Amino acid sequence: MTRIVTPRLILRTARPDDLEAMHAVLSDPRAMLWWSTPPHETLEQTREWLDAMIATGPDHPDFVVEWDGRVIGKAGFYVMPDVGYILHPDVWGQGLAGEAVGAVIDHVFKTLAVDTLTADVDPENAASIRLLQRLGFVRTGSGERTWNVGGVWKDSLYFALSRADRAVVTGAQAPA
Ligand SMILES: CC(C)(COP(=O)(O)OP(=O)(O)OC[C@H]1O[C@@H](n2cnc3c(N)ncnc32)[C@H](O)[C@@H]1OP(=O)(O)O)[C@@H](O)C(=O)NCCC(=O)NCCS
Repeated sequence: MTRIVTPRLILRTARPDDLEAMHAVLSDPRAMLWWSTPPHETLEQTREWLDAMIATGPDHPDFVVEWDGRVIGKAGFYVMPDVGYILHPDVWGQGLAGEAVGAVIDHVFKTLAVDTLTADVDPENAASIRLLQRLGFVRTGSGERTWNVGGVWKDSLYFALSRADRAVVTGAQAPA
């Protein structure tokens, strides 16, 4: 079971008792504005979501994020190599997503033989785009009407982060 500790956060494998805290995130319309599904309306929806996350296994790099003993969201890879993250709006704007997603990315590059990570973002999701750019992701393309979320078509911007580009951002030695 993997556990990542950053200056302010603990990232760990999801557990069934994360249900209420994750439901608070996934049922919040502000947090779900650019997600791939509408806000969860029932606890049962979140239970299915959480069960699927747990089923990926204890070594899969997808994590709930704990801050000060509270589960505030998730960061990681439900399906490799596409990164996904969501935090409760209560905690936005304090650099916590940068800390969480940066740690997950560095963990993946350190432990897995993957050379490029990807992200798919709504063009209107300014915070997420800024976050990806700060982490070293570069834009690789775009798509129109890529997601139908609750009957509304959404567009995508595609981003990618190579192992070498991440090394430049972190100041780590470039890979051979
Ligand atoms: C995207 C998200 C995780 C960012 O969380 P956060 O903890 O507030 O992010 P950070 O504080 O680490 O900020 C990341 C960067 O985005 C910037 N930012 C934050 N909110 C912003 C906004 N509304 N508009 C523009 N930039 C914004 C920050 O200033 C920071 O950039 P900086 O380092 O240059 O100052 C959060 O907004 C969220 O959960 N959104 C809903 C879910 C979502 O959209 N997930 C991504 C789907 S692709």
